[in-house]
Amino acid sequence: MTANSDIRQLGINLNHWYVVAQSSEVTDQPLNVNLWNQSIVLFRDCLGTVHGLEDRCPHRHVRLSHGIVIQGNLECAYHGWQFNGNGQCVQVPYLAENQRLPTCQLRRYLVQEQDGFIWLFPGKDSTQAQIPEIPEWTHLNYIATVSVIHCQTHYSFLIENLMDMYHGHLHQDLQAWTDARLEKIQENQGQVEADYQAQSYYKIDKIWSVSQLFIPALRRLHPERLRVSYVYPHWISSLGKDFKIYCLFCPINLTETRAYLIHFTSLESFWRLHKLPVKFRQWLKHRLFGAAQNLLDGLVKQDIVMIEEEQQIHLNCPPPKSHELNPVITAVQRLIWHQATGNPMSDLNSESTN
Ligand code: FES
Ligand SMILES: [Fe+2]
Repeated sequence: MTANSDIRQLGINLNHWYVVAQSSEVTDQPLNVNLWNQSIVLFRDCLGTVHGLEDRCPHRHVRLSHGIVIQGNLECAYHGWQFNGNGQCVQVPYLAENQRLPTCQLRRYLVQEQDGFIWLFPGKDSTQAQIPEIPEWTHLNYIATVSVIHCQTHYSFLIENLMDMYHGHLHQDLQAWTDARLEKIQENQGQVEADYQAQSYYKIDKIWSVSQLFIPALRRLHPERLRVSYVYPHWISSLGKDFKIYCLFCPINLTETRAYLIHFTSLESFWRLHKLPVKFRQWLKHRLFGAAQNLLDGLVKQDIVMIEEEQQIHLNCPPPKSHELNPVITAVQRLIWHQATGNPMSDLNSESTN
């Protein structure tokens, strides 16, 4: 196999934290999520703590997420067996006096709730892994918008899209930047960081500046640094000081990926606003949540069309060679290769891949 086809066939490094849901998606109803071919049920117990168990009843192997949560335990819809957050069977409604509870143990995943998301660790050794921090999620000077990316592609197509700032061409009216020029790449065993110089359409320095998000006529081009980082397995970017964007990955299988794109608009320049009562600032942050929704969803839609087509072409007839000019793509592929295989990054043919 060539390096070309290898990338789209690679798995993920399981020894990292992945995002499997938004906090708001996990209620007192069980929720099925999927992470790299593993079907997982998430639920909250009586204290509101989120648990993650394999989504398969040990009795007849149906999904536990069809069931309900009763007094903090997950009850299977079929025969009503109940399981606690540790994955042990704690009740069978028709257990005879001479029978004992089955000693089955469901796989239990490490789960953490942080910065508005449910993080799950699917690997064996979590000692080295850290959940990335998203300080803007709670910081009063940042307005958040979340868009869910669900695409029928290998995760590598999505991260390559996010790291290649020359694809601004695709977005036209929705674009936040133009004229990107790559200035610097830094890479190591865990991340690739690319600095581009670009022209930004937005400047958030006046009280009405946020309206640039919806009114194109108010936008004025000016130079800004555009930094994108693949901090395996997630993505972080910043456009000048006004915007910070994260993309939190949940690769589902070889040809399906889910990810959460979180866009933050900074209100750091408004020093007068910072002097207002905290309660008001909290209200404002909450009120403006989703201010960039149409913009973000529009960008995501356009990207998905392109990367799903790339995936289809790759499946149907992989082209022999592509003409990639952006060295960031090669660096991203080296990192994926290293993380997924454990082999040195230099082992991947440095030729641009498709
Ligand atoms: S299949 Fe779950 S209780 Fe029977
Ligand atoms: Fe894009």
